[in-house]
Amino acid sequence: MRAMSLAAAVTTASLPAKENEGTNPMNFDEIKQRAGTFSAKFDVMETFAGVSPEDGIPMWVADMDFSAADCVLDVLREQAEHGYLGYPGRASLVSEAVAGWMKTAHGWDVKPEWISYTHGVVAGFGMALEAFSDPGDDIILFTPVYHAFFKKAAAKRRGVLESELVVKDGRYEMDLAALEGKLTGREKIAVLCSPHNPGGRLWDADEIRELAAFCDKHDLLLLSDEIHMDLVFPGAKHVPTAVAAPDSVPRLVTITAASKGFNLAGGETGFMIVPDEALRAKLAPVQLEYGGTPNRFGMLMTRAALTGGAEWSEAVRAYLADNFALWRDRIGALPGIKVMDMQSTYLSWVDFTDTGMSPEETDRRIRQDARIAQSPGADFGTGGENFHRFNLAMPRPRLIEAIERLEKAFGDLQ
Ligand SMILES: Cc1ncc(COP(=O)(O)O)c(C=O)c1O
Repeated sequence: MRAMSLAAAVTTASLPAKENEGTNPMNFDEIKQRAGTFSAKFDVMETFAGVSPEDGIPMWVADMDFSAADCVLDVLREQAEHGYLGYPGRASLVSEAVAGWMKTAHGWDVKPEWISYTHGVVAGFGMALEAFSDPGDDIILFTPVYHAFFKKAAAKRRGVLESELVVKDGRYEMDLAALEGKLTGREKIAVLCSPHNPGGRLWDADEIRELAAFCDKHDLLLLSDEIHMDLVFPGAKHVPTAVAAPDSVPRLVTITAASKGFNLAGGETGFMIVPDEALRAKLAPVQLEYGGTPNRFGMLMTRAALTGGAEWSEAVRAYLADNFALWRDRIGALPGIKVMDMQSTYLSWVDFTDTGMSPEETDRRIRQDARIAQSPGADFGTGGENFHRFNLAMPRPRLIEAIERLEKAFGDLQ
């Protein structure tokens, strides 16, 4: 129960008044006990990182330490009160909500019949690999990138061609010329993570178009994972790949969800948006094989979030942007430590190269000295070795505690 004492010890009262004003109508500052609540982030952190939830701070797996929007909780309460938990029907009701949200939030005209549901986005990723490539084929990943892509490719016996992102003016860019020189002819799919995890990069429409043209030239399916689409900081904009590159829609599969933006990951519900009929026909048998009936609660939560969650979304994104600004100003001020600038997500990508320390040493200081469970950069592929990824989606008092611990753990840097 020492996690509770952390909550008690670090109160909002210790914050400068300004920090708490303006951006927090939903009280995201509130620290609630999550350890012992069937939470991967807290209850598996000891197994994952050797850091106990008793006194540790989880900054690894990507969910937020915030309660979901009231509209989402209401729909679950209604279900519990009604008491009948049978198979769900009328997915079209959810598809209308998805289409409505895609139009208003992201400017994409999606037809409900283009949408199908999966048990999470990674499951949809696996289905796309199966439908659009064969064992022994390669997929292209722009690394460092979300680690589950590598695991899924390995599980499906697809190879990975890594195209390392290059840092230009402090942000990641694709190097398509270098990639072109590495192609072997075995590649069938290029995967875009948009917004990018890690690093929170929002790809410009021009960059997406260049990638789409590259896919046209080399006859690649473009698989666009847009799960972080609803985590964009105020003033910034996510451009769906289909909007940036409409001419490439015949080779485009988009996989996304309401789960990241609205903190519903336990609902395990993703959706695939495939405007092209021929691609949908190729995907359908694979979807049938893995079970077409979506999760009742995930579907209802998705619909509730996308129809009633706009205000919550705006508030949480403003809060996350403030968390990032505080983190960047303090952690980025430590000598030799660079915090990559980001416009979206809550997954901060931090470069420890100039500390001169090995990844093992920085990992030891983070986990053993600071008692923080982060995600080691090497898990994200080539280019990530000297980085660590930190999840900032937590009440600000806890974030300040994490910052203070890291300042102490790296206090000898000059
Ligand atoms: C890019 C990306 N895709 C997919 C996922 C996970 O999706 P799901 O839990 O719906 O399988 C994550 C989780 O962090 C992610 O960052």
